[in-house]
Parts: sequence; C-alpha cells; structure tokens
Amino acid sequence: MVRIGAFLVGLFFAGWLLVSFLMGAVAYVSEPPQPTVEHEFHELPKHVSFSFDGPLGGYDRQQLQRGFQVYKEVCSACHSLKFVAFRDLEALGYNEAEVKAIAKQWAIKTPSVDPATGEASTRDPMPADYFPKPFANNVAAAAANNNAIPPDLSLMTKARHHGSAYVYSLLTGYQAQPAALLKEFPDSKTPEGLHYNPYFANLNLAMAPPLTASR
Ligand code: HEC
Repeated sequence: MVRIGAFLVGLFFAGWLLVSFLMGAVAYVSEPPQPTVEHEFHELPKHVSFSFDGPLGGYDRQQLQRGFQVYKEVCSACHSLKFVAFRDLEALGYNEAEVKAIAKQWAIKTPSVDPATGEASTRDPMPADYFPKPFANNVAAAAANNNAIPPDLSLMTKARHHGSAYVYSLLTGYQAQPAALLKEFPDSKTPEGLHYNPYFANLNLAMAPPLTASR
C-alpha cells in the first residue's frame, strides 16, 4: 500500500515537471524572448597580443613604466590601487631611491594624524604605504563621477574575463552609438553623462574616455 502511495506521489511530481516543461516550451515558441540591445551590440574584447602572453611571455620594462606613468597622470585621479604599495613598484624596474622619490612626490597624500593636535591631517606617502585613495569614501567618489564609483584597479585584470585585452578594448573602444542600434532600439540612447562603449557589459559607462578627454 505504502509503495503504491509513494509511486503515485512520484508520478504526480514527474507529471507536473513534464507539464511545466511543456508550458515553458509553448511560451518560448509563441512569445520568443525579445532581443536585447546588450545581446546584439555588446562586443568581446579585441584580439591583442601582449609580450607577456603565454608561458614564455615576458614583461617589457619600458612598457611597464609607461603604463605606470599613465596610471600616475590619468587614472589615479579617480581609481584607487589600494592593494598595491609604492615599494611594489620595484617589480616594474624602479630602484629603491626612485620608489622613495615617487612616493614622496605623489600628488595624493596619505591620511595621517597631526601629532600635536590629534586632528586629521595628511603626510607624504612612504615606500611601505599603499597608494592613497583619490576619494575619502564612496559617497565622495560617486558624487564626483555621475553616481558611479570608480572601481579599485589593483585586481582589475583578474576580475574581468580576458583581463588585459578587456581593459585595452575598453580604453580604446569609445565610439558614437551605431545608427543601427538607435534604429532598432530607439529607447536605448546613451543617457546624458554616460558614454557609449560596446566593450562594457551594459554598453554605457560613467567613465569619460580617460585618454582623450583629459588632455
Ligand atoms: C574622471 C574619473 C576617471 C578617470 C580619470 C579614469 N576612470 Fe576608469 N572609471 C571611472 C568610473 C566612474 C568608472 C565606473 C564606470 C561605470 O560603472 O559606469 C570607471 C571604470 C573603469 C573600469 C572598469 C570597467 C568595468 O568593467 O567595470 C576600468 C578597467 C577603468 N575604469 C580603467 C581606467 C584606466 C586604466 C584609467 C586611466 C587610463 C581610468 N580608468 C581613468 C572613472 C575614471
């Protein structure tokens, strides 16, 4: 008796599964999912070959240092590098004295406390310090960036698929919205204050093209 009962319960659930599957299939055929603008216009990163690709790849010291210079002169105004310390720059080929000088002259200062009054103050960064953040907190960061918070860049190439190629594509991928996009999705015009970039997952991002607009 118990067996028949259990069998019937099992049959009921199996039947229910079949019915809901069929209903889903019918809905898919009668009302196919609408194409989305992201689905049609988002692009995978460009194919780039880097000197550090593959097991035998290596870094080019001049190139690393130029990259750091770009961070220093452009990106650091908005993006923190909170897991990287100045002394880590030795990995890019700077010697101890150079690292010391870079830290000392860094435009953003390290938060500190005035030893005489206890008031909040700042001091020059030292090699052991992490790169100071450009904004005091997320509210200040969002307020200065059209409500978007510039993400920390320390682990950015690990956090995104195709890391370096993605960042390269994003930085070089700003463009006007394609006419075909506006024709097919007239409601998807890039909102004011955002910038069209097909390499960004939702196509419009709050970062202005950093390497052209800023100079
Ligand atoms: C004026 C401020 C500003 C500058 C300068 C700037 N960024 Fe950004 N960046 C932002 C903001 C804001 C976002 C967040 C965009 C969003 O979520 O819509 C962002 C996002 C990013 C992202 C993440 C995209 C993602 O997938 O989430 C990367 C990578 C990035 N920036 C790299 C850089 C690099 C490299 C530089 C220097 C060449 C730079 N940014 C300079 C403001 C800036």
